[in-house]
Amino acid sequence: MTDLDPTERLHTEELRALQLERLQWTLRHAYANVPLYRKKFDDAGVHPEDCRSLADLARFPFTTKQDLREAYPFGMFAVPQEKVRRIHASSGTTGKPTVVGYTENDLGHWADVMARSIRAAGGRPGHKVHVAYGYGLFTGGLGAHYGAERLGCTVIPASGGMTARQVQLINDFRPEIIMVTPSYMLTLLDEFERQGIDARGSSLRVGIFGAEPWTERMRAEIEERAGIDAVDIYGLSEVMGPGVAQECVETKDGLHVWEDHFYPEVIDPVDEHVLGEGEHGELLFTSLTKEALPIIRYRTRDLTRLLPGTARPAFRRMEKVTGRSDDMIILRGVNLFPTQIEEIVLRTDGLSPHFQLVLSKQGHLDHLTVRVEATADTPAERRESAAQEIVTRVKDGIGVTVDVAVVDPDTLERSMGKMRRVIDERAG
Ligand code: DLL
Repeated sequence: MTDLDPTERLHTEELRALQLERLQWTLRHAYANVPLYRKKFDDAGVHPEDCRSLADLARFPFTTKQDLREAYPFGMFAVPQEKVRRIHASSGTTGKPTVVGYTENDLGHWADVMARSIRAAGGRPGHKVHVAYGYGLFTGGLGAHYGAERLGCTVIPASGGMTARQVQLINDFRPEIIMVTPSYMLTLLDEFERQGIDARGSSLRVGIFGAEPWTERMRAEIEERAGIDAVDIYGLSEVMGPGVAQECVETKDGLHVWEDHFYPEVIDPVDEHVLGEGEHGELLFTSLTKEALPIIRYRTRDLTRLLPGTARPAFRRMEKVTGRSDDMIILRGVNLFPTQIEEIVLRTDGLSPHFQLVLSKQGHLDHLTVRVEATADTPAERRESAAQEIVTRVKDGIGVTVDVAVVDPDTLERSMGKMRRVIDERAG
């Protein structure tokens, strides 16, 4: 741990003191410069001066994606436009995108936390980093890019798509690190096989995977097929982008939240009370250093829990995100997340790791079909028994009846970035 940032070595009390000072600054900055925050604070009867301890944050109102949408495009920016060096936006499924901005200092902090994340994953100065997150308004590509440069790595800015060429670049340029969504990594591994190359013999040693939920089973699948360490990276554009939290390669036990920049809370999504360490709920973030877009108690909709620090003792961990409340399927009263199905599909022999969930209506009832894909050497009888195994495991493990359709090899849509798992065919 000799090459850590000084902040990474802070003791908990020192970190808490730094957080309080930065939180007080953030609340004052937001109140003074963003009319929406001023109104929300006034309506809730709180003032930045009321924040005398970190626990006082619980008195301040939440911020939601809806707030950002209503302020479209720049209404939540807290600095004049000429101080904004970059804009990103997330597409969102409906309506207007959410737009975020960064000052020069914000971009510097982002590169710092990304460099810290890549190092925690096992990256070192001099390594070559293949970035296959999309470049553009999405924060994945550029976020990874500047972090890798900041660490002193050589960046290969591949972006997403052109899968055959990605494999060629990896073979020819010999990167040690790949940064990509876990679902697109599976697409790349299929392409290695298609070209007759054993991915385990490639130069890759570490994969830094995020932007979508993925399971421990998926980690095992990727590590085995690629012969690498697979670690988790988390972030969201409203809070910064990738690099809000990162798993350390030596422990692989959840993601350390870079708490000197992002203050986490977990709340009960229904009664909205702050939960204690170890309790499951919805994750919230308050930025501590952001100038262009200070964000206060942002409701991420991501479900997880906070745990004490391990590899970075002062920094709490967030458990791997199992899903977003938005992605939860409610099927005849039973809650179900795509990750639960992923876990089951990956431990069923004879199937590829690709799957899709199709929601339809049968009469008045919602109905879920799990589409899975046979591998090339799976005999017909195995297709049937595999389907039955999934039906049973879903019924026993989740408590609901689903249909399973086993389709031919290489027929399910492949991910090119963030995977769309659920296809909703319910009309109206
Ligand atoms: O996905 C930022 C990012 C890029 C993170 C590259 C990691 C790697 P958004 O497009 O704003 O930003 O989407 C944010 O993606 O609220 C989560 O629901 C989900 N997400 C991101 N990372 C993870 C992860 C980027 N490691 C939304 N595990 C978040 C599970 C994740 N879900």
